[in-house]
Amino acid sequence: MVSRMTEPAVLFVCLGNICRSPMAEGAFRAEAERAGLRVTCDSAGTADYHVGEPPDPRAVQTARAHGVEIGHLRGRQLVAEDFHRFSHVLVMDHANLANARAIVPADAPTRPILLLDLVKGREGAAVADPYYGGEENFEYTWDDVTRAARALVTALRQ
Ligand code: 4NP
Repeated sequence: MVSRMTEPAVLFVCLGNICRSPMAEGAFRAEAERAGLRVTCDSAGTADYHVGEPPDPRAVQTARAHGVEIGHLRGRQLVAEDFHRFSHVLVMDHANLANARAIVPADAPTRPILLLDLVKGREGAAVADPYYGGEENFEYTWDDVTRAARALVTALRQ
């Protein structure tokens, strides 16, 4: 597939696609809308554990508390074709990065990077997995993905 992208197409990637990446997708969509920026965005997991499932109820609740609806999203697994379809593939942690790199086609225009590489002072850091944590961990996730979403919107507007 030829990679002609008329507007930014951003894919957020975590392990299960039910906590961090749907929250990142929701936060980014909201920030882009607020900025009047036209974007395509989606999210995916490196694993297939939760394909077809809605986000974790704690992720939905946290996003909702911040005015963003993500309950309609459904899990899917990252595929090689995503590196042709998306201009940005942003992963949550180092395991996601290794798993994503393992399936990038040699001729694809897009390479995965850590989401927090976009945030000044957080380069090289991971968005911690809140799945085994409590409500506060989902708040930390929301904070991280929101900072990254704002940085990305700023970068895309330039
Ligand atoms: P996520 O969190 O990668 O942020 O969606 C997880 C969701 C599910 C599992 C692990 C992490 N799991 O092992 O099922």
